[in-house]
Amino acid sequence: MKRKVTKAVFPVAGLGTRFLPATKSVPKEIMTLVDKPLIQYAIDEAREAGITEFIFVTSRGKSALEDYFDHAPELEAELERKEKTELMDVLRTTYMDSGAIAYIRQHKPMGLGHAVWCARRLIGNEPFAVILPDDVIAGDKPCLAQMVEAYEETGGCMVAAMRVPEQMASSYGMLDVESDSIDRKISVKGMVEKPAPGKAPSDLAVIGRYILTPDVMNTLNAGRTGAGGEVQLTDAIAEEIVRGRPVHGYRFEGERFDCGSKAGFLQATVSFALDRPDLREEFSQYLADIVPLVRAAE
Ligand code: UTP
Repeated sequence: MKRKVTKAVFPVAGLGTRFLPATKSVPKEIMTLVDKPLIQYAIDEAREAGITEFIFVTSRGKSALEDYFDHAPELEAELERKEKTELMDVLRTTYMDSGAIAYIRQHKPMGLGHAVWCARRLIGNEPFAVILPDDVIAGDKPCLAQMVEAYEETGGCMVAAMRVPEQMASSYGMLDVESDSIDRKISVKGMVEKPAPGKAPSDLAVIGRYILTPDVMNTLNAGRTGAGGEVQLTDAIAEEIVRGRPVHGYRFEGERFDCGSKAGFLQATVSFALDRPDLREEFSQYLADIVPLVRAAE
């Protein structure tokens, strides 16, 4: 029987070394695209997909992330006094209902699969979503909402999938495709985490949105390590296929930015700034002025 997906796990316990020295004291997920932290994009997307319980897998040094969702009475009083109603609305998007948010600690960064497994008791026997806030996806309909709709037909496990150039495949979990349909659903017969160059079974990579069955937690119980000596979520999902249970990829509509990398983060910043009515004109003028100068200097 399929059940509604109401819980989401946000694994945010990684070290974020690619953003040192900032991540020495600022969690990567608090870094902003224009003025909104990565974690807020993830929360907004989850809410729009019907998620009502938010489980964060955190680690040492992430207290700023926990504080971010607290109410801020002094700030609120000041904004009210100055009648800054628009800013009040923005502030309220950061608030969570009491009891809707939970924090679990991952004591050591042993891999994404291990981080997800840390949430097992809060997940219980229900399907659940996993959202990696590093992957920010811009589009008309949020990616997870697209997947929840497709999952209502397929059940089982579902991973967000996108095409990547061959030379990028060894950075991703890659899908071995049974069949691909025009309605964006892909039947999957295998998955390989970070394949060696030239060994990827397709050009479809898994990115950071998942809908998983509680069976995946049972596989993760074994704590088996895979690529990079880490407990890989991809391996646990691939195990579902071996056991004859359905796994689908979903070729989502939208543009994905890899905000875990500096180049991806900068691209997202430019794209989101150009999308903002209050910034577009000034910022696009700046880019129009600067790009020819950069080209000329090359
Ligand atoms: P990354 O592979 O991007 O690692 O993790 P990272 O530590 O965040 O960043 P770098 O590579 O050192 O710069 C992908 C996602 O999985 C989470 C991360 O927080 C991120 O959201 N993760 C990874 C964990 O929660 N625990 C882990 O042990 C590993």
